[in-house]
Amino acid sequence: METTEQSDRIQADASTVDVQSEFDPAIIAFCCHYCAFTAADLAGTMRQQYPTNIHIVRLPCTGKADVNLLLEAFADGADGVMVAGCEIGSCHFQKGNERAVKRVVYAKDLLREAGVAPERLDMFHIAASQGPLFAQRAREFTERIRALGPAAHAGKGVES
Ligand code: FES
Repeated sequence: METTEQSDRIQADASTVDVQSEFDPAIIAFCCHYCAFTAADLAGTMRQQYPTNIHIVRLPCTGKADVNLLLEAFADGADGVMVAGCEIGSCHFQKGNERAVKRVVYAKDLLREAGVAPERLDMFHIAASQGPLFAQRAREFTERIRALGPAAHAGKGVES
C-alpha cells in the first residue's frame, strides 16, 4: 500500500517526465562568422539534420561573446547557450576564441553560484568544413538541455 509521501513522489516524477518528454528547449548558438556559422550553413546544405530549436546568432568572432551577452541569453529565456567558434589557433582575430573559452568558464561559475546548472552553457570549436560536426554538437547539446529540463520550470532563471 502506498503512503501519501510515496504517492506524492510518484506524481511529482510523472509530472517531471511529462514536462521533459514535451520539452522543446530554447537554445541560442552564438556562432562566429568564419567557422561555426559557415559549418552550420554547410550542415544545412549537406542535409545534416539538427534540431530546429537552435537559434543561431552570428558574431564576427566568439571573442565578441562577453559574459553579459551569455547571461542575458538566459535572462531572456534560453534554456541552453552554445558558443561555437574556430578551432584554437585558427581564430581570424588571433585570440578571440581563447578569450571566449575563458569567458565561458567564468560565466559557468556565475551560473553555478546562481543555482543554474553550468552544463546549460558550453563552448565548441568547429571548423568551417565541419558541417556534420556542427549538426552532431547541436543534437547532443539539445539532448543535454532536454534532459536538464526547462530552465524556468526548474526555477533557475538568471538575472544579469
Ligand atoms: Fe572564429 Fe574568432 S573568428 S572564433
